Amino acid sequence: MLFEVLVTVVMLVVSVRVWYLTTSGRCHSTRSMKGKTVIVTGGSAGIGLHTAEDLVRRGARVILACRNLEKACKVAAQLKAEASQGGEVAVRRLDTSDLNSVRTFAKEILDTEKHIHVLINNAGIVEPSEKVMTNEGLELTMATNHFGHFLLTNLLLERLKQSAPSRIVNVSSLSHTLVSSLDLNSLNFEKEVYRQRVPYNRSKLCNVLFSLELARRLEGSGVTANSLHPGVVKTDILIPYHTMFGRILKLVFILWAKDRELGAQTNIYLAVSEEVEGVSGRYFTDCKEVKTSKLARDKDLAKRLWEVSEKAVKLTPGENVCLGADEDEASGWDGLAAAGTANGSTSVLLPADDSAVQAAAGSTSRVPVYPEQHAETLYLMDEGELQHRQKRRKLELTLLEEKIKAQRAITLAMRLIAQVCEKIME
Ligand SMILES: NC(=O)c1ccc[n+]([C@@H]2O[C@H](COP(=O)([O-])OP(=O)(O)OC[C@H]3O[C@@H](n4cnc5c(N)ncnc54)[C@H](OP(=O)(O)O)[C@@H]3O)[C@@H](O)[C@H]2O)c1
Repeated sequence: MLFEVLVTVVMLVVSVRVWYLTTSGRCHSTRSMKGKTVIVTGGSAGIGLHTAEDLVRRGARVILACRNLEKACKVAAQLKAEASQGGEVAVRRLDTSDLNSVRTFAKEILDTEKHIHVLINNAGIVEPSEKVMTNEGLELTMATNHFGHFLLTNLLLERLKQSAPSRIVNVSSLSHTLVSSLDLNSLNFEKEVYRQRVPYNRSKLCNVLFSLELARRLEGSGVTANSLHPGVVKTDILIPYHTMFGRILKLVFILWAKDRELGAQTNIYLAVSEEVEGVSGRYFTDCKEVKTSKLARDKDLAKRLWEVSEKAVKLTPGENVCLGADEDEASGWDGLAAAGTANGSTSVLLPADDSAVQAAAGSTSRVPVYPEQHAETLYLMDEGELQHRQKRRKLELTLLEEKIKAQRAITLAMRLIAQVCEKIME
């Protein structure tokens, strides 16, 4: 009996994988991105990393906007090594769940970048098992997936307009369709009990509604805004499911889901393809336009979400006015190797032929010190912020343990399947 079940599972896995490979949408555009500047939030892992990799290969200057500089520096060095058409890679610190970090990041970009041709709002998390609030009083998943990107886009909007034709790509999810109503007075669970799976789906609905209203506001500006579902992709985002059901679900995803390269295709398509030139306010999956849920098409709701979000991130009228990049400073990447600065704005720019370690250290002769490691001492933190960070670090460690456990279970399952396959071959 067990044997039959395992054979059926193996056959199902193989067929689904073949089906994915043959039917999943791919970006067929061969467009070069030479001379284009692209920002990818969460570009150090998963779908974001594979998006960045493709864009660097096309010759773009890609800015990896990441919360973990050490990880991002390593990734950047790898991407740089693979770049053939002169693509550039830079790393800048951005924690989308922290509005101060978003403001610091945006200021650095406006101070140094003459152009932004593509902004890919990709970073995201699945909600933790318990409600976590940020310093700004926002629920962590909503802050990371929606509010941070809402603020970031607004702060960079004028530069995007100056760089037109330019594009904004918001990475949402099919799970937005699981939301049946949206109470704008309780986006951070002010009026209801926190439940797992609700924050993520809600934040992804907000991504689609944000794109809709953004596209309306950008009409005639030469800047387009679209959202997408990448498919079910084998990435680390599925890890924080703590329940038994979550673990089983994760195992199913690992066996059946798309690999990351395939999962990045719709991101890439919306960032580069000629087919979507001038197309705005739409939602895509597998490099094709598809319909969103009815709620996600509600233009009035989108407008009201914008207004509520403006208040939540405390966007001031002067903030989305362009500050103007310094022409000389912005003119090239050569020789730039800056690490942490005293105001906590930690960034690393990778010069053409340098390694991540050298860039992070700022010099080949010094002991490498990643900005991430000494960032704590550079920040001026009050007691509340310190406690909040410690709480988050604890949560991250718990998630890591869960990840290790899940990986062990998967390895065991894979071994079992391999053994069954061997038996069949015999
Ligand atoms: N995988 C799927 O099946 C799937 C399905 C539908 C939609 N999506 C969407 O696809 C996007 C990418 O997810 P993924 O699957 O590639 O997941 P992933 O492998 O976990 O990558 C997520 C990225 O976001 C970054 N990130 C998380 N919180 C951040 C924060 N506060 N500030 C800055 N960066 C942060 C992560 O940084 P670290 O490396 O530091 O953790 C990581 O680089 C997400 O928006 C997700 O909702 C994924």
